[in-house]
Amino acid sequence: MTKNSSPLRVGMIGYNFMGKAHSNAWRQVNRFFDLPAQVEMHTICGRNAASLAKAAAQLGWANTATDWRDVVANPAIDIIDITTPNDSHAEIAIAAAAAGKAILCEKPLAMGAAQAKTMVDAVKKARVVHMVCHNYRRIPAVALAKRMIDEGLLGDRIFHYRARYAQDWIADPKFPLVWRLQSKIAGSGTHGDINAHIIDIGRYLVGEIKEVCGVMETFVKERPLLESFGEGLTAKAGVKMGKVTVDDAVAVIGRFKNGAMLNLEATRFAHGRKNHITWEVNGEKGSLAFNFEDMNRLQYFDATAPAVHNGFRDILVTDASHPYTGNWWPAGHIIGYEHTFVNTFADFVAAVVSGKSVHPTFEDGWRNECVLDAVMESAKTRAWTKVVS
Ligand SMILES: NC(=O)c1ccc[n+]([C@@H]2O[C@H](COP(=O)([O-])OP(=O)(O)OC[C@H]3O[C@@H](n4cnc5c(N)ncnc54)[C@H](O)[C@@H]3O)[C@@H](O)[C@H]2O)c1
Repeated sequence: MTKNSSPLRVGMIGYNFMGKAHSNAWRQVNRFFDLPAQVEMHTICGRNAASLAKAAAQLGWANTATDWRDVVANPAIDIIDITTPNDSHAEIAIAAAAAGKAILCEKPLAMGAAQAKTMVDAVKKARVVHMVCHNYRRIPAVALAKRMIDEGLLGDRIFHYRARYAQDWIADPKFPLVWRLQSKIAGSGTHGDINAHIIDIGRYLVGEIKEVCGVMETFVKERPLLESFGEGLTAKAGVKMGKVTVDDAVAVIGRFKNGAMLNLEATRFAHGRKNHITWEVNGEKGSLAFNFEDMNRLQYFDATAPAVHNGFRDILVTDASHPYTGNWWPAGHIIGYEHTFVNTFADFVAAVVSGKSVHPTFEDGWRNECVLDAVMESAKTRAWTKVVS
């Protein structure tokens, strides 16, 4: 890879929760990673000029635009970063591909597999570098787990991948009807929002999913309409009521193509669980286990070691020999949520300069949507459903 003297100029669409996380990552990425290009935070885009100006100043963007089409059409911009709700990803990404921009798009990639496929076709046709932002892949402990599995530490056969993503921020029935609870904007509820993440980790660590059997539930069917949106996931409720049109929770059993069994649960109704992502992989030679709320650690059990002193090892994944950690602090000086985005963006920037593919690609996003669709179909028909891709 050669040093590239011209900067990469980013145009970011959307500026709330993910907009903030992405802005921080764009700002930090050259500070901590030795990359072949400098990133320039060129334009931030949103629809409300007053709050956009405030966001630009706070988050560190040079210019503002109130229509994403102007950002996509701007020849000065190299990268389009999509942090808008799910229903706008496809339109923006397809236009960005046609304009020859590199694209980083938030997950879930689209509103379903069929729409995701149109995005895959667009980036392939335009030959632009693209990535879907499943940032949890680049938690050092998750990347280390991938390396350990690839090195064969769990053996050739994986038996189980079981994962749970549990939150509680909508457990209160008075929490308002935000866009994440409306199928026309979100596609699905907890399923596409957070089950998509643990599906992605499963595909990353274990492989493609063959068939699924899903159960979905909407516990609170009506909620107060939204009065105003706050920071992160917070919102203020109005008085009038509206219908919830997505799932609140989902459970899935299934099989991977390699014979491993799949077991997933995603819910926003687990009081006390804030962003509780846990998973365990069991293979013929050992097991790995992870909990996001203790994200600097990876649990490893080596079943080939003598039983007498054996047990789960608690690996503090902060050594310079671990993935990404050498870019941060000395061993034991732990990292957090925001670093997952910086690690992700560092790999993306390197790919944009080299022109090489970087995972997770839009194809990964589409395959994820194929699993999401199969689970929804299974829940609807109450039948085992093949993942069609
Ligand atoms: N990778 C992750 O872990 C993660 C976490 C949270 C959200 N997400 C994903 O990120 C996306 C955004 O989620 P969020 O929580 O940041 O949402 P949000 O509601 O907090 O922010 C969305 C932003 O998009 C803007 N917007 C909406 N439509 C627009 C348009 N047509 N043009 C310009 N701006 C527009 C809104 O004004 C707002 O600034 C979603 O797809 C979501 O699934 C990913």
